[in-house]
Amino acid sequence: MNISIFGLGYVGCVSLGCLAKNGHTIIGVDVSRIKIDQINSGKATIIEKEIDEIISEQHKNNRISATSDFKKAILETEISIVAVGTPSTAQGHLNLDYIFKVAENFAEALKEKNEFHIIAIRSTILPGTCDKFTSIIEENSNKKRDVDFAVVDNPEFLREGTAVEDYFNPPLTLIGAENKEAANKLAELYKTLPAEIYITGTRTAEIMKYVNNTYHALKISFANEIGNICKALGIDSYEVMDIFVKDRQLNISPYYFKPGFAYGGSCLPKDLKALQTLAHDNYVKVPVIENVDKTNQLQIERAIEYISGFKGKKLGFLGLSFKAGTDDLRNSPAVTLIEALLGKGFEIKIFDKNVQLARLTGTNKEYIDEKIPHLTKLLVAEINELIEESDVLIVTNNEKEFESHLKNTHNKPVIDFVRLRDETIRQKQGYYGINW
Ligand SMILES: NC(=O)c1ccc[n+]([C@@H]2O[C@H](COP(=O)([O-])OP(=O)(O)OC[C@H]3O[C@@H](n4cnc5c(N)ncnc54)[C@H](O)[C@@H]3O)[C@@H](O)[C@H]2O)c1
Repeated sequence: MNISIFGLGYVGCVSLGCLAKNGHTIIGVDVSRIKIDQINSGKATIIEKEIDEIISEQHKNNRISATSDFKKAILETEISIVAVGTPSTAQGHLNLDYIFKVAENFAEALKEKNEFHIIAIRSTILPGTCDKFTSIIEENSNKKRDVDFAVVDNPEFLREGTAVEDYFNPPLTLIGAENKEAANKLAELYKTLPAEIYITGTRTAEIMKYVNNTYHALKISFANEIGNICKALGIDSYEVMDIFVKDRQLNISPYYFKPGFAYGGSCLPKDLKALQTLAHDNYVKVPVIENVDKTNQLQIERAIEYISGFKGKKLGFLGLSFKAGTDDLRNSPAVTLIEALLGKGFEIKIFDKNVQLARLTGTNKEYIDEKIPHLTKLLVAEINELIEESDVLIVTNNEKEFESHLKNTHNKPVIDFVRLRDETIRQKQGYYGINW
């Protein structure tokens, strides 16, 4: 394929060399004369393992060239990849000036082009940017999205230092597009790579780099805080992390990556607090760890705020313990939520088949006696009774049997903290998912 690449920095130079190595013919476009001259004399614009040889070889094969003439590059190619910089502004916002300047270039060139053109944005951009890029082209040319051209998001996952290796072994090839034909055509470019090609909506693809990189930064900071605590205690943090990553069921796994309600129970809050206090006693600052509980409290406040909007309605809670299949009420966020809503004057009923007051003992009983002393009056024995008597239903744990009952709620508002599996419930009028 004939491909143009806008921006010949780290991402652009690597894509230029690697796509040429895969047999495509590439024209690079940049505003920097130096970078254009480097490519045209067979030299890489960046320092990276293997890239010098690739660029030199592909230059000899006549598969790569560079120019400042964006119009020529667009007119002579069928796909363009945009890899210009997206730095931060002084205030921390994303600076999309380079991206939108390139959109204007496309508007100007596409006026003169009759064939369909695909623009893949490889730069890291916030949700909504592809749409704005498309609008800039439409407003400044006589061309229409999906008729004359399509803009798709195709985030880059390479890391500097191992960029070529990462290019040929990506964790995933992600394409975000509303235009499926354009997405499939772009996917053709990557079909030789040993990675899943995942096609999704544009906005989903656009947010992914931010989710990934924020998580990477979080992982590093978490490891550093654990390292600092371990050092203070004379424990080898490298051995600790080696053991940590051995747990592939709970630690390095999809487990817990489910947006929903606050965590609770007898272990997480207690152990988090203990580690935090241990760090404090050893004069180690751990702001990441310290703020975990704050985020958790905010999730409860978010729920209180939303439910408070149903003033005067009878609330029915499906689930009281901190997770399905247990009667442990200690630090259950549902208990905290109900306590707060009772304080606001709400009439509340609760169904949780695992919670039988007569059988509660020890700290579990003490906890609930302190938080909701008149719990007996709120508990109902049958789920149908709860559904009938409530105006609004709040699902706080994912007991399987809830779903079959919630299907027949005649559009009573359902507030879901667990993301019920049954899509027909999620599509009902009045359904609200806490964070989806
Ligand atoms: N560097 C990485 O490891 C990496 C990894 C993944 C994603 N990204 C993202 O990819 C994008 C590019 O990053 P980079 O590190 O390659 O940037 P870079 O600064 O190295 O290169 C950007 C290039 O774009 C050129 N440019 C600016 N305006 C232009 C225009 N109007 N027309 C043509 N060229 C223009 C610049 O001259 C420069 O050569 C960013 O959004 C970045 O966040 C970077």
